[in-house]
Amino acid sequence: MSTRFSKDHPLRLAVLISGGGSTLRNLIRRVEAGHLTPVRIVQVISSRATVPGVGIAREADLPLAIVRRRDYADGVAFSDAISGVLDAAEVDLVVLAGFLCHWQLPERYRGRTLNIHPALLPEFGGQGMFGCHVHAAVLAAGRAASGCTVHLVDEHYDHGPIVAQTCVPVMPGDTAATLAERVAVAERELYPYVIQQVVDHGIAWLAQFEHTGGKSTH
Ligand code: GRF
Repeated sequence: MSTRFSKDHPLRLAVLISGGGSTLRNLIRRVEAGHLTPVRIVQVISSRATVPGVGIAREADLPLAIVRRRDYADGVAFSDAISGVLDAAEVDLVVLAGFLCHWQLPERYRGRTLNIHPALLPEFGGQGMFGCHVHAAVLAAGRAASGCTVHLVDEHYDHGPIVAQTCVPVMPGDTAATLAERVAVAERELYPYVIQQVVDHGIAWLAQFEHTGGKSTH
């Protein structure tokens, strides 16, 4: 695996989606604008066939695979199918972007698979904590701040070592929707920022988080 990426050897990125695809769209735009470089999105995998994210991938003419959990006998077969698509695309870095299925990632994708979560982990994460559920929980807990977290993926939902976080304030009168929008703005900066760090410093840059379990703040 290359440690550094260059124009001749851009980072080969895969994006896994299940829904709206706003994270995917942001990454596409950054790459197209030359603000996330040198990066090539070589594979999009969607766990659903008819979501807006699929349309975004098609419009951008990106290689797209639909891998639905219900088409496989069990979680192992489903996970093997995802890993097989990634292997064939010779992916360097995998980013989960609103991917709602459980991919049992094999050892070879450990340390190079990231997720972004719309809260300050380790709070407000785990199964069922997605979309507006997250923001409603933050408001119900009376927190003064929320934010987003990029973390390495392990076998548990929203659990792996934290790589970077951005805080946003919770404002008086916030609803889950207004808070979601503020967090989304932060997400659109944080994910490309972290991916660019990987491009600039190599996949090995992520290893520091594996070993320490520490976090850096953007
Ligand atoms: C984002 O809020 C992200 O934090 C979470 O899922 C959402 C993705 O939305 N993991 P979209 O499908 O990219 O629009």
